[in-house]
Order: sequence, then structure tokens, then C-alpha cells
Amino acid sequence: MYDIPLDFHVSPLTKEQLTKIDDATLRDESGNEFKLNAEHGFWEFLPDRSPIYSDEEWKSFQTLIDNFVISYDRNPRVNVSYDERPDALQFGEFCNYHGHVLDIGCGPHKVPSYIKFKRNEEAKYYGIDILVGEQPKEHNFVQAMGEHLPYRNDLFDITISGTSILHYISPTTGIQEALRVTKPEGYLCIWLGVKSNDAPAPKESPEWYKNLDIPDGAENPFHYKRYSIEVFDKVITDAGGEIFEREEHQVDEWRTNVFYKVRK
Ligand SMILES: C[S@@+](CC[C@H](N)C(=O)[O-])C[C@H]1O[C@@H](n2cnc3c(N)ncnc32)[C@H](O)[C@@H]1O
Repeated sequence: MYDIPLDFHVSPLTKEQLTKIDDATLRDESGNEFKLNAEHGFWEFLPDRSPIYSDEEWKSFQTLIDNFVISYDRNPRVNVSYDERPDALQFGEFCNYHGHVLDIGCGPHKVPSYIKFKRNEEAKYYGIDILVGEQPKEHNFVQAMGEHLPYRNDLFDITISGTSILHYISPTTGIQEALRVTKPEGYLCIWLGVKSNDAPAPKESPEWYKNLDIPDGAENPFHYKRYSIEVFDKVITDAGGEIFEREEHQVDEWRTNVFYKVRK
């Protein structure tokens, strides 16, 4: 069902080559093993613990994940690219798919609508996410962290972050990893949702939202930090990316969607 050539992969933390031990096991040169998910047939590349985060950050990351799962379950149409959402269609148009396309943080659904409704049938699509979500996906899939991609250097024509990297505790690492696996002539597409500080709070929040924990050090239950365009531009350039295209789409008085094309 999922068919990713073995030589596309490397070990997520050490970046060593992987050897197939048996149909359900890969091993890197340091002896770390990775299993095939028995139920759905994707490789499980999630590290037990990311070395880039402190204990406190790792705990906050787990709380963020718990909150993502609740919000996607309760309100998928608002929180992920579901159905023909105009902003998702605009992003799909912007990405201009071709070749090998890796969607980093592809979401809990079978396929995000920026791919579903804008696909180029000649391109080949791959997704990674920390969440297993609905299976099987309508594209290739492995379970992994965007900060530790299990792919070799310079592999993909296009890498995508559809409102995913902005949720990481370290988006800088996420962008560096995305650019590492992007071909030198390829590009990374990022969708950043920006909300101004004076945006009014919703008059009524649903009960499930009120019950979410805010992770230590985070600005809200879903974002470790919220970014302005200027600050995110700097995150990208500090990560070694060159912004060569940027579109801004005003959603309302307080919200803007920003689409970036970035190369290394
Ligand atoms: C707002 S959703 C967007 C999903 C999809 N791109 C879409 O637009 O429908 C953010 C996604 O990023 C994933 N994500 C968050 N942090 C991640 C990380 N560190 N590594 C990989 N995926 C992550 C979440 O699990 C979630 O599926």
C-alpha cells in the first residue's frame, strides 16, 4: 500500500543509512531499530525523546499534541485543511506541485484539501506527521517529527508546511530539516497564519476548548509562540532559507494568511 523506496530513508536522529532486517524492521548503523506499523503498514520513525528539546519543552510538546488531537476531533473544518476551504485551495494553487512532494505535518485526515483539490496527477505525494490519524492516507506516509525527518538530503522537489511548522517549539529546526531534504533547485512552501494582538477573543468558547491545558511556556493551547510576518521572515532567514516569493491574503481585519516559497 505505502511504497517508499528504502534508499529514500535515513535514521531520523543519526541520519545514518538504514538496513532492512526483516519485512517489519529497519536498523541504522548505531543499532537503533524502527518498526513497520502492523495495522496500517507505515514506518514508525517517531523518536522516544527529541534531543533538541529540554525536559520542560518535551513535556509541553506532549501537551500540544494532546490539544491538537482534541481540536481536530471536535472541529476539523476550522483546524485543518478539510473540504474545499478557500484558503487551502489558494495554498494548493500557490505550491504548484510537481515531482516528489513531501507534506510535513500533513494532518490527521486522509489527504489535506490543498492536495486533494489541486493535485497534479504526475507528481508523487508523501506525508509525515506525528499523528497516525485516519488510515490509509491517500498519499505515502510515515510517522515522524518534522524536526527529525527520516529522509536523505536533497530528495524532494517541493516540501510543504501547511500551518504545521508554526506549531513547533523550534520552527528554526523544522525549516532547517525541511530545507535539508529539499533539492537545491526545489523549494519549501510555508503557510503561516498571522493574527494581530488586538484581535478580539471569541465571545463564547466551547467547553472542550476551556478544558485544554496551556503547555508551560506556550502562548496558547496550540501555539508555543505566535509569529508576526516580520518575526517569521527572520526565523526563515536565520534557518538558512532564502524567501523568493511571498503572498499575503487578508482574511479579516485581524487575520492574514502568508504563503512563502523558500529555497536554500
Ligand atoms: C493545523 S494542523 C495542519 C494539518 C494539515 N497540514 C492541514 O492543513 O490540514 C498541524 C499539523 O502539524 C502536525 N505537527 C505539529 N507539530 C509537529 C511536529 N513537530 N512534527 C510533525 N508534525 C507536527 C500536527 O500533528 C498537525 O497534523
